[in-house]
Amino acid sequence: MKLSAGKIGMLVMAMLLVSAVATVSAEEYPNIPKELVIKRGFTKEALSCINCHATKVPGHVESWKAGRMAHAGVSCYDCHVVEKSSPMASQCEGTKGTSTFISPMVSSKTCSRCHPQEVEQFLKSGHAELASGAVMSPERAGLIKLQFHYEGAGFMDNKQYTWNEGTPEGATGIDRAARSSGCQMCHGTTVELGPDNKPINETWPGGVGTRYPDGSVGTCTVCHERHTFAKADARKPEACGACHLGPDHPNIEIYDESKHGQLYHTQGEHWKWDSPPDAWEPGDYQGPTCATCHMSGIGDLSTTHNVQERLKWDLMHKKSVVRSGNRGDGVTGEQKMKKVCANCHGSTHIKSQRDTLDNAVGLYNKYWAGAVKMKAELKEKGLLGPDPWKDGFQELMYYLWHHTGRRARQGAAMNAPDYAHWHGFFQVFQVYQDMENIYNARLKSGKVEEVSTVVSTGPL
Ligand code: HEC
Ligand code: HEC
Ligand code: HEC
Ligand code: HEC
Ligand code: HEC
Ligand code: HEC
Ligand code: HEC
Ligand code: HEC
Repeated sequence: MKLSAGKIGMLVMAMLLVSAVATVSAEEYPNIPKELVIKRGFTKEALSCINCHATKVPGHVESWKAGRMAHAGVSCYDCHVVEKSSPMASQCEGTKGTSTFISPMVSSKTCSRCHPQEVEQFLKSGHAELASGAVMSPERAGLIKLQFHYEGAGFMDNKQYTWNEGTPEGATGIDRAARSSGCQMCHGTTVELGPDNKPINETWPGGVGTRYPDGSVGTCTVCHERHTFAKADARKPEACGACHLGPDHPNIEIYDESKHGQLYHTQGEHWKWDSPPDAWEPGDYQGPTCATCHMSGIGDLSTTHNVQERLKWDLMHKKSVVRSGNRGDGVTGEQKMKKVCANCHGSTHIKSQRDTLDNAVGLYNKYWAGAVKMKAELKEKGLLGPDPWKDGFQELMYYLWHHTGRRARQGAAMNAPDYAHWHGFFQVFQVYQDMENIYNARLKSGKVEEVSTVVSTGPL
C-alpha cells in the first residue's frame, strides 16, 4: 500500500469517522432516530432548497442525507444552481420569481469544480465522448440507420430522419422510441432543450456520455448513484452491470460465472467497501470486482477514472487490435493489468491467463478474417443483398463479431469458461459454418436467396 502524508491524513480521518459513527450507532442507541440534523454549515439559500424539497420531493433529500457529501456540507445549491446566463438555467416551483436559477441537468463539469482529477481522467476514457459518439456521430452512419431507420423512425410509415436533418414535420415520439428507450440510456446523446431551457424529446436523462447544452460531457451518476454518490457502491459489480450485460457484452454475467464472482457472491457481504481510494487493498476483499481490475488503486497502481488505462486489446470491434489513439495504449495497458493480478496471483498463473487471452483473440481474428474474405468475394460477384439486415450472410456476419465473437473474447479475458465456449467459440463456429454454406450456395447458383434464411428468434 502506498502512503503519502495526504493519504495518511485521509486514513486517520477515515478511522476517526468510523469510530465516531461507532459511538452513536443505531444498534447501541436504538431509540435515537437515524436523522441528520442540518443546521450549521449551510447558507440560508442552501437551507431553503433542502427544507422545501424535504417536504415536497423527499426522495432526493433522503438519499442525499445518507451520502458523505451532505456531511461535508455539499448541498443541492452547489450542484443545481446555475448562472442565469447558462443555457440550462430554469426555475422550479420554489425559485420562481427569485434571482436563483437551477437546472435538473448536472454534468461532469459541475463535479470538476471539486474533483478535477477524476473528471479529467473520465473525459479521456471511452465513457465520455466516444460513448455518445457511438450512437450519434454522423460518421457512424450505419448505426444511426439502425436506430433511426430500422427500429423506429422510417419503419412502416413512420417519419424517417437523421441527426443532421433534425426532426421532420409530423414526426412523433414513436419515431424516437427505439433510441430513447435503448441506445441513449446507456450511451447518452445530445440533450435538446425547449423554450424554457428544460430538456425535451426524451433526450434526458441519459447514459454515461450524455452531451449537455453548455458543451460539457458525461454524467457521473451512472456509477455513483444519486444522491448518495457512495464510492462503496461504485466498487461493486452492480454499478457496471446496468450497462455491461446482455448478448453483446455480457460482462456482469461473465463476472458472475468467474471464480472472482463466486468469491464476491459468497463472501462479499463481509468485505470492507469504504476504505479511502488507494487504500482499498486485498485484505479489505479477497477477490477483485470490476472496479478493482479496471479502476481502483491496488498495489503500485493508483485509482483511475479512465477505464481504458489497463487494457491491451480492443475486444468490442470487428477485428481485435492492440489499443492505440483514442482507445488508449495497449502496451502500457497490458503491463498495468498484469500488475493488478500480481497482487493475488503468481507469475506462472498470470502468464497462463494472458496467453489464453492472446490466443483467444488470435483464434477469433482468424474467423473474422475468413468472413471478410468471403464477403469480399460475394461483393465482387454481385452476390450481396442491398439491405444487410435482410441478407442472411450479412446478418450472420454481424452476429459473428457483435454477439458470439465478443462473448468468446470477453469470456476468455475475464475467466468465464461458459461464455468463452458455449456462448462464445461454439457459436462462432456454428455461425461461421452457416455463413460458409450461404457463400457456397450463392457461388453455385449465382443468386442471392429471395428470403433470408436467418430467422431472428433471439440473440444468436
Ligand atoms: C454532488 C452534486 C449533487 C448534489 C449535492 C445534489 N444533486 Fe441532484 N443531481 C445531481 C446529478 C449529477 C443529477 C443527475 C443529473 C443528470 O443526469 O444530468 C441530479 C439530479 C437531480 C434531479 C433531477 C432528477 C429527478 O429525479 O428528477 C433533482 C430533482 C435533484 N437532483 C434534486 C436535488 C436536491 C433536492 C438536492 C439536495 C437535497 C440535490 N439534488 C443535491 C447532483 C447533485
Ligand atoms: C418552496 C419549495 C421549494 C424551494 C425553496 C426549492 N424548490 Fe426545487 N422544486 C420544488 C418542487 C415542488 C419541485 C418539483 C416541481 C418542479 O419541477 O417544479 C422542484 C423541482 C426542482 C428541481 C427539478 C426541476 C425539474 O425540471 O425537474 C431541481 C433541480 C430543484 N428543484 C432544485 C432546487 C434548488 C437547487 C433549490 C434551492 C436554490 C430549490 N430547488 C428550492 C420546490 C422547491
Ligand atoms: C450507463 C452505462 C454504463 C455503466 C454504468 C458503465 N459503463 Fe462501461 N461502457 C459503457 C459504454 C456505452 C461503453 C462503450 C463506450 C464506447 O462507445 O467506446 C463502455 C465502455 C467500457 C470499457 C471500454 C472502454 C474503452 O474506452 O474502450 C470498459 C473497460 C468499461 N466500460 C468498464 C466499466 C466498468 C468497470 C464499469 C463500472 C465500474 C462501467 N464500465 C460502467 C457504458 C457503461
Ligand atoms: C444496455 C446498455 C446498452 C444499450 C441499450 C446499447 N449499448 Fe452500445 N454499448 C454498450 C456497452 C457497455 C458497450 C461497450 C462494449 C464492450 O466494451 O465490449 C457498447 C458498445 C457499443 C459500440 C462500440 C463502441 C464504439 O464506440 O464503437 C457501439 C458502436 C454501440 N455500442 C452502439 C450502440 C447502438 C447504436 C445502440 C442502439 C441501437 C446501442 N449501442 C445500445 C451498452 C449499450
Ligand atoms: C462543492 C464541492 C463539490 C462538488 C461540486 C462535488 N463534490 Fe463530491 N465531494 C466533495 C467533498 C468535500 C467530498 C468528501 C466528503 C467526505 O468524505 O467527507 C466529496 C466526496 C465525493 C465522493 C466520495 C463519496 C464517498 O462515499 O466517499 C464521490 C463519489 C463524489 N464526491 C462524487 C461527486 C460527483 C459525481 C459530483 C458531481 C455530480 C460531485 N462529487 C460534486 C465536494 C464536492
Ligand atoms: C465507470 C464507473 C464510474 C464513473 C462513470 C465515475 N466513477 Fe467515480 N468512482 C468509481 C469507483 C469504482 C470509485 C472507487 C475507486 C476506488 O476504489 O478507489 C470512484 C471514486 C470516486 C471518488 C472518490 C475519490 C475520493 O477521493 O474519495 C470521486 C470523488 C469520484 N469517483 C468522482 C467521480 C466523478 C466526478 C465522476 C464523473 C466524471 C465519476 N466519479 C464517474 C466509479 C466511477
Ligand atoms: C480479474 C480482473 C477483472 C475483473 C474482475 C473484470 N475485468 Fe473486465 N477485463 C479484464 C481483462 C484482463 C480484460 C482484457 C484486457 C486486455 O485487453 O488486456 C478485460 C476487458 C473488459 C472489457 C472489454 C473492453 C473492450 O475492449 O471491449 C470490458 C467492457 C470490461 N472488461 C468490463 C468489465 C466489467 C463490467 C466487469 C465486472 C462486471 C469486469 N470487467 C470485471 C479484467 C477484469
Ligand atoms: C484481490 C485478489 C485477486 C486479484 C487482484 C485477481 N485475482 Fe484471480 N483469483 C483470486 C482468488 C482468491 C481466486 C480463487 C482461487 C480458488 O479458490 O480457486 C482467483 C481465481 C482466479 C482464476 C481461476 C483459476 C484459479 O486459479 O482457481 C483465474 C483464471 C484468475 N483468478 C485470473 C486472474 C487474473 C487474470 C487477474 C488479473 C487480471 C486476477 N485473477 C486478479 C484473487 C484475485
